Amino acid sequence: MTSERSASIPEHRLKRLHERLGGIAYGGDYNPEQWPREVWDEDVRLMKDAGVNLVTLAVFSWSRLETADGVYDFGWLDHIMDLLQANDIGVDLATPDAVPPAWLIAQYPDILPVRADGSTFGFGSRQHFDVSHPAYRQKSLAMAEKMGERYAAHPALCMWHVNNEYGPVSYGPHADRAFREWLQAKYRNLEDLNQAWSTDVWGQRYSDWSQVNAPAQPRTWSNPSRRLDYHRFTSDSMLEHYKAERDILRRHTPDLPIVTNFMRFYKNNDYWAWAAEEDAAALDIYPDPREADAHVAAALNFDLMRSLRKGQPWLVMEQATGAVSQWSVNVSKPPGKMRLGSYQAIAQGADSILFFQWRQARGGTERFHSGMVNHAGPNTRVFREVCDLGQELKKLGAITGTTSPAKVALVFVWDCWWSLELGNSPRSDLNYAQEVLRLYRPFFDANITVDFVNTTSDLSQYSLVVLPATYLLTDQGAQRIEDYVAGGGHLVASYLSGIVDQDNSIRLGGYPGALRKVLGAWSEEMHPLADAGEAVKLSTADGGTASADYWTEHLHATTADVVARYASGRLAGSPAVTRNRFGRGTAVYLSARVDGTFLEELLSVAWTAAGIRPDLEAPLGVQVRRRTGHGRSYLLVLNHNDAPARVDVGAGGTDSLTGAAVTGTVELAANGVLVLEETSLEIAAAEIGR
Ligand code: GAL
Repeated sequence: MTSERSASIPEHRLKRLHERLGGIAYGGDYNPEQWPREVWDEDVRLMKDAGVNLVTLAVFSWSRLETADGVYDFGWLDHIMDLLQANDIGVDLATPDAVPPAWLIAQYPDILPVRADGSTFGFGSRQHFDVSHPAYRQKSLAMAEKMGERYAAHPALCMWHVNNEYGPVSYGPHADRAFREWLQAKYRNLEDLNQAWSTDVWGQRYSDWSQVNAPAQPRTWSNPSRRLDYHRFTSDSMLEHYKAERDILRRHTPDLPIVTNFMRFYKNNDYWAWAAEEDAAALDIYPDPREADAHVAAALNFDLMRSLRKGQPWLVMEQATGAVSQWSVNVSKPPGKMRLGSYQAIAQGADSILFFQWRQARGGTERFHSGMVNHAGPNTRVFREVCDLGQELKKLGAITGTTSPAKVALVFVWDCWWSLELGNSPRSDLNYAQEVLRLYRPFFDANITVDFVNTTSDLSQYSLVVLPATYLLTDQGAQRIEDYVAGGGHLVASYLSGIVDQDNSIRLGGYPGALRKVLGAWSEEMHPLADAGEAVKLSTADGGTASADYWTEHLHATTADVVARYASGRLAGSPAVTRNRFGRGTAVYLSARVDGTFLEELLSVAWTAAGIRPDLEAPLGVQVRRRTGHGRSYLLVLNHNDAPARVDVGAGGTDSLTGAAVTGTVELAANGVLVLEETSLEIAAAEIGR
């Protein structure tokens, strides 16, 4: 493959990045403009001690790079780029437009985003822009052009970081206009919009395009189809801005990766659409050390990142060495937790460990957010852990580019997230992410690797597909699921799946409208349980008992077998959980939020029937993942418990960090990590197992 062709492939851009960095990327956001010049020399010296090979520059530096309209000052950035280059530290250079400068806001106050209630955000924080504002767009793209021109040939430049955590939504006049244009492109004629939005309900018909605008705060509850389209529009409009910058930077540097950073459980942007436009998914992750099982939600987000670009390695773009400054109580991480969290990301496919930020700020909003170098300076536990981790990661360079194929797919769709949580539904506390997490957790606990997919994904490589509250299903999405089961696939669907179509209109004839046939069951009425804590009993077909809370349905089995029935409450005697043979496959329906033990049992029956087995049997809280590729196989074993754990690693392999041979039962310290490079025998077995 010629270098020109290979450069156009994201995987190759990533591969070259890691070759250039000598393996895993290690470092973080670096804001030298916040510090006097003499600190810079200490910074690079300490970065060398820590094994830092990549820093992100200029994320919030617009006001320093363009000091007045059209007056650019790149001198300080040139200087620091040269200094980093001289010390063999690569640069992930950010376009700084997450923070339009004060002079630009003074010139165009309507760049500031407008809230749904019509009030305007003030200057003084960040992300204070309406992405549809023409001057914001023009000035931010001009800056990308300048930076592309100036730094394309700079030897320190390794990758680009566009904006920062795209997300601000506006309901102002610029958003109104852009939304209208987006709708005109989608619906072409107004009558189709009226139909799709059910505007005859509550007399909301539009008779001219000029009447259509962003769904600002209405008198009472507002139209859910219009709001769903607004979610789609805001994600698309921000993505358009990202793509415009990316295209400029790509023109200057065709071989360098270009990304923007994603957030944990972030609802506003459809990351499937975004990741398709990037060279890698990149995540900012801040698990709360106060939560004993924060690593499970982190795991879900890591698997999502791994899945967004079909298993390709992804990047931890930001994490904290210790405390953050965004919660009511900002607890520091206990010794070893930062290292463990870093290895967890690597185990789940990350090829970079970057922090926000290099040096803890002495002023500004996030002055208490930890850094790699904290207020006390380098003579700290945290900096020692940072240095130790940096040195360890150097030994793991060969893991970059390896992947973790999975046999289980969990559907995760932003359209479902948006449409499920619009209110005026049977429960006001519906929480899509929690529904997904609930069905993800048993796989995590059992050490079964899960891919996330959307409803347009090819399902043929999976033995089991899970639909957690997959509320919105298009006709094509529903057909794909039906074909998958008919062809021999195993399916588990939970309540609130298949309820509405692409316009957010209910599918008639009984719930779950789009899945009745494949599930061989239908519900005539939803019965959310009124009070928190209210539960009903279930009796299982094999004589067992279980319970359900939160959600139940008046379900009828048509062709399905009944796995469990309601045994108390108004639905006593009706089916609660069903299993249907459909074509060559099987489809299970959970019409209720069943208790955790029963859920685990139902899922383990499903994954066993689908021929899936864990990567390794391990005690609860011990996470095991395998990464393979380039003729190598790594088994990563992570003890998330606060007590030591014993794990049988079987034939084991070579400890990548110590070089020792490891077999049989090993004891992992609390928060301990084991990275084993397996022998060719295990590689072959692992590949056959898949
Ligand atoms: C991220 C953001 C960083 C920093 C960090 C710590 O969301 O991108 O700039 O603010 O959080 O709070």
